Amino acid sequence: MNISVIGAGQMGAGIAQVFATGGHQVSLVDINQTALDRGIATIGNSLDRIVKKERITEAEKAAALANITGFTDMGAGTQEADLVIEAATENVDLKLKIFAQLASLAPAAAPLATNTSSISITRIAAATDRPDKVIGMHFMNPVPVMKLVEVIRGYATSDETTELVMNLSRELGKVPVEVNDYPGFVANRILMPMINEAITTLFEGVAGVAEIDTVMKLGMAHPMGPLQLADYIGLDTCLAILEVMKDGFGRAHFQPCPLLVNMVMAGKLGRKSGEGFYDYSGGGKELVVSGSFV
Ligand SMILES: NC(=O)c1ccc[n+]([C@@H]2O[C@H](COP(=O)([O-])OP(=O)(O)OC[C@H]3O[C@@H](n4cnc5c(N)ncnc54)[C@H](O)[C@@H]3O)[C@@H](O)[C@H]2O)c1
Repeated sequence: MNISVIGAGQMGAGIAQVFATGGHQVSLVDINQTALDRGIATIGNSLDRIVKKERITEAEKAAALANITGFTDMGAGTQEADLVIEAATENVDLKLKIFAQLASLAPAAAPLATNTSSISITRIAAATDRPDKVIGMHFMNPVPVMKLVEVIRGYATSDETTELVMNLSRELGKVPVEVNDYPGFVANRILMPMINEAITTLFEGVAGVAEIDTVMKLGMAHPMGPLQLADYIGLDTCLAILEVMKDGFGRAHFQPCPLLVNMVMAGKLGRKSGEGFYDYSGGGKELVVSGSFV
């Protein structure tokens, strides 16, 4: 199939990688040439690690990379799409704009999927000419490793579109789980309040970054502490998801911690900006004292 992926950030690059490795032709689109180049470089590095682990050969890596073409123009990058998967920044106005454009750019038969973490599929679908073909295809980070795909049916999503996305997910070796369209769906409705509470625990001085993460890793058998996970997801994305759930449900339960808001305003977005609760500028994970943001 020809798969167009919109957004070459951490998720878009991962999605492009798994489809390309699965033998699909991938058009990877980003408005930002630097982000596109970084996304393609990330895919190369990720495939190198998989070659080192002897899970694929050098030839398979080269074939996967040859399946990916980069574009900064969404029209050129979607004109032959059999399926579009949008993985641009988590912002409702941006997604509505992209989907309105996709309605006129992508072939009429192409389903339009979004990797949104929280935004209403029904609302995104209403911006298009084909609400029955709009669906949530929510991959987890890192995409090549994580098995789950949360498949979200909007109000008008057809059985045919749902079946296509469920089958395609299985073909990629993933496990799709179908859920209904309410803010944050299932994954982030449960995960984000925990991350927000971990940030509030830090904000209120109950414990430090390392202590909070160690309690949750060793005490609850989580592979990553919640603050490290927030850095990994991106603090801007965490904040955007909490805002969508706060607005959608009208519950204080989802009110973002002021420390999270401050860190995002300060440009401390986690791993992707080089610093969040930890400092990644040297490549490794060093603890950052976030007291200065409180
Ligand atoms: N980070 C995670 O752990 C995670 C997990 C699951 C889902 N998601 C979702 O995936 C989506 C992308 O998240 P991310 O972490 O990859 O973000 P990111 O910030 O790493 O990347 C977003 C990319 O979108 C690009 N972009 C912005 N506007 C665009 C446009 N009009 N056309 C094309 N590209 C555009 C940006 O240049 C950037 O490269 C979001 O909806 C997010 O909620 C994120």
